[in-house]
Amino acid sequence: MKLLRSETDPVRDQFARARAELAAALIERDEEVDLILTALIAHEHVLLVGPPGCGKSLLLDSVLAWTGGTRFTLLLTKFTAVEELVGPVSLAALKADKYLRVTTGKLPEADYAFLDELFKGSSAILNVMLRILNERTFDAGDGVARPVPLRLCLAASNEWPSPDTGKELAAIADRFVLRKTVSPIRSQVGRRKLLWTRDHAPKLSAPIAPAEVDQARRRAQALPWSADAREALEAVLKELAKEGVQPGDRRQFQTVGVVRAFAYLTGADEVRPEHLEVAQHCLWDDPGEQPRKAAQVIARIANPVGMRVTQLLVEAEQVLTATNVRDLADAARAAAKLAEIDRQFAGLAAGPRVETARAYLKDQLKKLKLASIEAV
Ligand SMILES: Nc1ncnc2c1ncn2[C@@H]1O[C@H](COP(=O)(O)OP(=O)(O)O)[C@@H](O)[C@H]1O
Ligand SMILES: [Mg+2]
Repeated sequence: MKLLRSETDPVRDQFARARAELAAALIERDEEVDLILTALIAHEHVLLVGPPGCGKSLLLDSVLAWTGGTRFTLLLTKFTAVEELVGPVSLAALKADKYLRVTTGKLPEADYAFLDELFKGSSAILNVMLRILNERTFDAGDGVARPVPLRLCLAASNEWPSPDTGKELAAIADRFVLRKTVSPIRSQVGRRKLLWTRDHAPKLSAPIAPAEVDQARRRAQALPWSADAREALEAVLKELAKEGVQPGDRRQFQTVGVVRAFAYLTGADEVRPEHLEVAQHCLWDDPGEQPRKAAQVIARIANPVGMRVTQLLVEAEQVLTATNVRDLADAARAAAKLAEIDRQFAGLAAGPRVETARAYLKDQLKKLKLASIEAV
């Protein structure tokens, strides 16, 4: 089976290249890059929420620069008018006693959209948007709901809607199957790279055409789920329900397609339990505690290498920030902890992420030793 399937897939290679190029330029945004590329393949929408200045716009703009096609970008405020989203009402049509919107250059004609400050929009705006995202059709006024070409809608916000901001915002947030909180840069090396790199914009080699995105989607849809992966997803849903996390039926079903798309992105021939890693961004409703629960349950049941790597790197970072290198005993304790973390890395299935993480750890260990020697 493996041999038969190893035929070349140039579109998948293009995705792999963009994935590497985006992740290399954007600091500590590997997961967000994966999220967006997965959504693109799965034909779903992505919402990123995080404080101002954490690279959301840079990432979303970079991806949209790569995809080509017709783009639509809008920064929403409470004063944004419906016209700005779907186009003005045609005066010529009005004279003929008809109501019709001219949608040229607006969301109903876009292949890709970026909506910044999503939750700032008025209810009129949010309602129009909801229909487009939901049904992927738009009625310009003549009573005909025509399909829109929208392949991917990326949205950003500085905060999650609070429960008291009403059902409207929750409904719009629910249209985004992939959702993630973006945190500021965590590591020391990351911060150094942020400060001393002149230009953070990724240089993407070859753009991808809408038809190629569609092809990737068809290929991904054809990936089979292994029996292990099916069982793991069912077990994850059961566990989550016990913990009070019960995403709706539509969301659960959409997750199946998202995980398939992620498996395709990582170059796999079939969906395996480790690909459930991406489902942590789908299988919850309330952004408060539920994402963490979803991540824990998936880590426990499917144990994806990617999640272990992230977790171990966070531990390493905590050790490094808590260490006073001028204190020899403290530095020695930290070195022992880092060595233990490295042993855990060694126990994981080898792969590029594990290798990069180990190289990083080795580097930090060396610096730690040098610093404490200098302190003597
Ligand atoms: N993780 C990151 N990687 C690379 N550059 C970053 C990162 N976070 C912030 N920056 C820098 O800060 C700038 C502002 O980020 P931006 O994308 O506008 O933030 P946001 O949209 O989240 O408010 C970027 O253009 C980039 O130069
Ligand atoms: Mg921004």
